[in-house]
This record gives sequence, C-alpha cells and structure tokens, in this order.
Amino acid sequence: MLDAVDPQPGQRVLELAAGLGETGFLAAEMVAPTGGVITSDQADAMLDGARRRAGELGLTNVEFQVLNAEWIDLPVASVDAVLCRWGYMLMADPPVALSETRRVLRPDGHVALAVWDSLERNPWALHPGVELIERGLAPPPQPGAPGPFALADKQGLRELLRSAGFQEVWVERLAFTQRAESFEEFWETTLDMSRGFHDAVLARPEAEIADIRGSLAKRLKPFTAGDGSLEIPMQALMGAGTA
Ligand SMILES: C[S@@+](CC[C@H](N)C(=O)[O-])C[C@H]1O[C@@H](n2cnc3c(N)ncnc32)[C@H](O)[C@@H]1O
Repeated sequence: MLDAVDPQPGQRVLELAAGLGETGFLAAEMVAPTGGVITSDQADAMLDGARRRAGELGLTNVEFQVLNAEWIDLPVASVDAVLCRWGYMLMADPPVALSETRRVLRPDGHVALAVWDSLERNPWALHPGVELIERGLAPPPQPGAPGPFALADKQGLRELLRSAGFQEVWVERLAFTQRAESFEEFWETTLDMSRGFHDAVLARPEAEIADIRGSLAKRLKPFTAGDGSLEIPMQALMGAGTA
C-alpha cells in the first residue's frame, strides 16, 4: 500500500478506519519532518490506542481525528494520499466512502486500500465461521451486507474504484499466511480478533466450548505441522487509484 501511494517528505497523508494506526505510522516516517499523517477512525477508543502507540514509537508528526469515512469532515483536495487497510468493506456504503476519499484527495493524489479476498481463500476465517453456522450459533453471511468479505471480488473492486472517479486503477491479489505456534494460540487470537466468534462461543456451556475447540482443531488439521504449529493461508485484494 505504501509503495502504491509513494509518500514523499512534506506530504499530508490521511489514514481512514485506521484502528491502531499501524499503516499510517509507516507513512509518517516517510513524509517527515515537514509532512504529517492524519490518523482517523470512527471509534474514539481505537484512536486512544493509536495515540498510545504513536507515543511509544516517538512519532511527532501524527494528528488524530474522529472521522466517518462515509462523510469525511475535511476540505476538498486537502490531502496528498489516502490509506485504508481492512476498512471499506465494513462500511454501509463503500461507493460513498470512495467518492468522499476522492473528494479530499488533491488531483493526482493516490489512494491505496486492502480488503479481504473471498472466504474460501481465507481458511483462517472460513473454518471458525462454518463451525458456528453449522451449529446454528451464527447466521450465514448475507450477500451485500457490510462485513470482512463484502468486497471480495477483484473485478467488482476495480469497478468500485473506477465508479468513484479514480484513474489508473489496479487491483491485485496478495497471499500471505497466519502463523500460530499451536492451535491454542490460534484459538486465543481468533477469540481476540472476532467479536462475533468471541460472543457466540463464550456464551455456550463449557462442554460445548470444548467440543467447538476440538472440531475446529480437526478442520485445521491440513494446516497443522507435526510440531503442532499452524500456517494458515490468508488472501487479500489490494487496490489503488489516482484522483
Ligand atoms: C478491521 S479494523 C482495521 C484497522 C486498521 N486499518 C488495521 O489495518 O489494523 C476496521 C476499523 O474500521 C473502523 N471503521 C468501520 N467503519 C468505519 C467508518 N464508516 N468510518 C471510519 N472508520 C470505520 C472501525 O472502527 C475499525 O477500527
């Protein structure tokens, strides 16, 4: 994403749906000392975490702003680049968010984004999800509803960027892996990262939780090595365009 927006010293970069700000903080180092980053999220609590992290990293050229990406409270053409990792697919109206993104970008400014590719290409999420659905503990995903896999269509994402008015649009698949030392570590990470999984599982009686764990460990056997460690494929779509 950073290669795609190519931040230069002196530039102003906006990160949307920044969470703890990890992606934008890398850009902050690239635009220093005169440039800066606006780390934004709709959730103030996320920005509290991002502020703490920026302090730990000693970053002095980052400002924090609560912003809804579907209604960006910034002037027209006020930033040089926009970054948004794992954000647009969670929004109620991604086309509006991308139009807003283009509005705040200066002409020729770049956007770079990442969203998850299809659930089938992401067994780290597929198997916990199927486990819950088959037990009737979670509803099947609703096509078209916001969610981690809502923009998992390469051509569709390209069209979305083009419809928002971006030029020089490209979308690429990016494959990587989630590693865990043990199934226990994968289980804890999944509980920690997915609110839906966490709430659905922990509401069950202890015996059933143990059963869910056992069944999920079995589903993940193909990704489990002899020493018990796991390497599970993950795949994202990375998109970029020029305003
Ligand atoms: C999966 S996290 C990604 C965080 C971060 N970008 C990262 O890659 O680690 C999604 C974030 O999007 C934020 N978010 C969801 N909808 C949003 C919206 N409409 N406007 C701004 N932020 C939004 C959430 O508050 C959350 O922090």
